Amino acid sequence: MSAQIDYNQLIPNNVNLASDRRLLRALESWHPKFINWWKDYGPDAYQENEVYLRTAVSVDKKGWAHFGSVKMPDYRWGIFLADSNAEEKRIGFGDHKGEKVWTDIPGEYRGPLRRLIVTQGDTEPASVEQQRVLAATAPSLIDMRNLFQVNVEEARHLWAMVYLLMAHFGRDGREEAEQLLERRSGDPDRPRILGAFNEQTPDWLSFYMFTYFTDRDGKYQLASLAESAFDPLARTCQFMLTEEAHHMYVGETGVARIIQKACDVMNKYKTDDVRRHGAIDLPTLQKYVNFHFSVSEDLFGAELSTNAANYFTQGLKGRYQEQFIKDDHSLKDEPYEITTFSNNTLKKEEVPALNSINERLRDDYIKDCQRGINRWNKLIKDAGIDFEITLPHRAFHRQIGSFAKANVSPEGVTMTEEDWIKNSPSWLPSEQDHEYVKSLMIQVTEPGKFASWIAPPRIGINNQAIDFEYVRF
Ligand SMILES: [Fe+2]
Ligand SMILES: [Fe+2]
Repeated sequence: MSAQIDYNQLIPNNVNLASDRRLLRALESWHPKFINWWKDYGPDAYQENEVYLRTAVSVDKKGWAHFGSVKMPDYRWGIFLADSNAEEKRIGFGDHKGEKVWTDIPGEYRGPLRRLIVTQGDTEPASVEQQRVLAATAPSLIDMRNLFQVNVEEARHLWAMVYLLMAHFGRDGREEAEQLLERRSGDPDRPRILGAFNEQTPDWLSFYMFTYFTDRDGKYQLASLAESAFDPLARTCQFMLTEEAHHMYVGETGVARIIQKACDVMNKYKTDDVRRHGAIDLPTLQKYVNFHFSVSEDLFGAELSTNAANYFTQGLKGRYQEQFIKDDHSLKDEPYEITTFSNNTLKKEEVPALNSINERLRDDYIKDCQRGINRWNKLIKDAGIDFEITLPHRAFHRQIGSFAKANVSPEGVTMTEEDWIKNSPSWLPSEQDHEYVKSLMIQVTEPGKFASWIAPPRIGINNQAIDFEYVRF
């Protein structure tokens, strides 16, 4: 079958696929395996329904957002690099600062670059696997469509990383591309590489928290890879960021609509007991924030990391918006303040900036998370309700780095293990909370109708009405 496929047609791209025979052959043998993976581990059912999706057909303003109804297996997963002028572009940090960016990989950096690309690439299909059964309980057609949009774009991000592997890493790259389709989220024998991508996304509250908190980790990882001296990686990640922004928007507005519904019910029935009316109470929502924020923080790795320092020095992975940081961009002698944990005490400490690249990125991430929390709190305040959602302390409920051994409350108070065991059920979603949220998860497929626990969005997709048939039955 593959011989008849016109890959330049099927795969919209700006990497000149049609004229690269070797790459074309590699993608030809990978494509059917990808489609099999998509059908078996992508969205469960609904593969034959027409979905109102956005497809990127080029990187310019007009091309990257084409809307139309397509069946998901026919989605045109493309390969795009943001525009670049590699001739004039210079490396912005590390030992190679000021040199021309690389269009090919220097031999000595093959290993670390491959690891970075594979680690990023592995998260993309993982999240599709985590979300595969959610459509069965979608609270509306527009939400179901948003889920599918996120899914096809994550799959496109997989294509983006596979392209880099195949175009620049020869046989090793082709093998890695196969393995990206072979690991499975949550599989004890062949798990996905990073912890948070082996957690379940069992319900829609979790889905929105995931797209708000965990996709935002993706944003910061992509943004630091977009600084890379290896120009094809930088440009690929830059384009992926435009799509990532939409995933976080889905998360932020999803949670906002849940909050709105809770507030509406509280005001209408003059009660805090919104569960009686099929809504999700704000204290439960806070517990989900605590869980998803802490799990996503772990994705940035240990506070002090020689790996991250090496990536920086070698020019492979920069900091968030490197060009706006006012220092020497080589960090040979720069300090950075981080929070540490020892003798059961949290304290601030000055450490070499070069070793604390991960922590700095986590700091940027936390600030960004807080901005959306502020917008959620404004909704609550505007509804006249006295409740504030907060981000837990960075040391709360961590599995990676120096806080892994710490027992810390959301407010940042250290405690004994015994007290942690006693108190943590009031900070993290309990079995009953999960059961309650699960009990609300009932599919709604009538256009313009919504489940009891979520308010309608303010606007439809691409100027369509709220009751447009976003998924056709
Ligand atoms: Fe992604
Ligand atoms: Fe994403």
